[in-house]
Amino acid sequence: MNVVSAQMAENIAGGSMIRRMFEAGNELKKKFGEEAVCDFSLGNPDLAPPPEVSGEFRLLESRSREPGSLGYMSNGGFSWALDKLAAWLGRQQKTELTRQEVMLSCGAAGALNSFFHTVLEPGDEVLAIAPYFVEYGFYAANHGGILKTVPCRKNDFGPDIEAVASAISPRTRALIVNSPNNPSGAVYSAEDLRRLAEVLDAGSRRHGRPIYLVADEPYRFLAYDGCEVPPVLPLSPHAVVVSSFSKNYGLAGERVGYIAISPLLEGRETLMAGLVLSNRTLGYVNPPVVGQYLMAAALGTSTDDALAIYARRRDMLAEILDEAGYEFMLPKGTFYFFPKAPGGDDLAFVERLKEHLILAVPGSGFGGPGYFRLSFAVPDAVIARSREGFARAIRG
Ligand SMILES: Cc1ncc(COP(=O)(O)O)c(C=O)c1O
Repeated sequence: MNVVSAQMAENIAGGSMIRRMFEAGNELKKKFGEEAVCDFSLGNPDLAPPPEVSGEFRLLESRSREPGSLGYMSNGGFSWALDKLAAWLGRQQKTELTRQEVMLSCGAAGALNSFFHTVLEPGDEVLAIAPYFVEYGFYAANHGGILKTVPCRKNDFGPDIEAVASAISPRTRALIVNSPNNPSGAVYSAEDLRRLAEVLDAGSRRHGRPIYLVADEPYRFLAYDGCEVPPVLPLSPHAVVVSSFSKNYGLAGERVGYIAISPLLEGRETLMAGLVLSNRTLGYVNPPVVGQYLMAAALGTSTDDALAIYARRRDMLAEILDEAGYEFMLPKGTFYFFPKAPGGDDLAFVERLKEHLILAVPGSGFGGPGYFRLSFAVPDAVIARSREGFARAIRG
């Protein structure tokens, strides 16, 4: 008897490579001890949230005694939180925003699901530039959509504009861009984003409905060496920004994220009404109360200290990989390296790394075969002790 749907059975069997590495890592740690294993598989920020977050927790303790303080609120979030978010995001996106254009959600993942639920017709296509965050495929499929991948530019993991243009069909409803990019560490230039918006707007006119440019930006704060992450909202009325406080303020488990739409979009009230209704009917109901207070306390606080720590770790790992002879692009953003797998077979090479007690994720898990992903959201000591393992693994 089938206790789950055929599709779910297939998804379970496929699993996620990140998850499998996580389980393999636990096995290795049990066998050889926590200290012996260098786990670069997970993108879970290991830094503490800013001190303002702990301060807010103390205030919440007394607030929680008030009747209704942890009850439901509007499905899109508290209005005071939306006002604060709109002001902050407006400065970042160089676009005047009000609470009418923003909605709070359960993480960036929740915002993407609400968005797809709101705009996709069955069989609609969502484009993503490979390599990409593999959950996008599930999120689109959750709402009847089909993820269609487009290869990136060969030399720098940037978007191949011509490839995107030729992938557009009458079924295309959105392109997701993720810059800074998980897993490649690429940051898209203002010119590339402008050209992408142009190509999508031309497609929208040709096919008679919006093709949205969805910028998924949870790593916006993590751009190194003064590299700018250009805003997308000014580029098109069909631009949409999705992000969260998971990575910048270390609140990944608290599930607070958002979506912002352009004030210039024709029909923006209807789109926002759909997003808010989706937040409710997908069962999120509303963003978490505590998360919104923590977000408000953290909003606008500096992320410079976190950036400096990740920059130091990036340089440490770059030196180790370089010394061992790996081929890689120094990440411009995020906490990921995406080196070439020596010998070309990423699945085999990740197995070899495991023999040297190093955990990585095969690029195939991100639509990027021939590469592997290393997350440096790990203590410096883990990076330092991986030197020998990386050197031995490449020697075979
Ligand atoms: C590219 C990308 N988008 C979205 C998410 C989901 O973020 P959140 O935890 O805010 O839902 C992640 C999480 O790793 C990510 O890497």
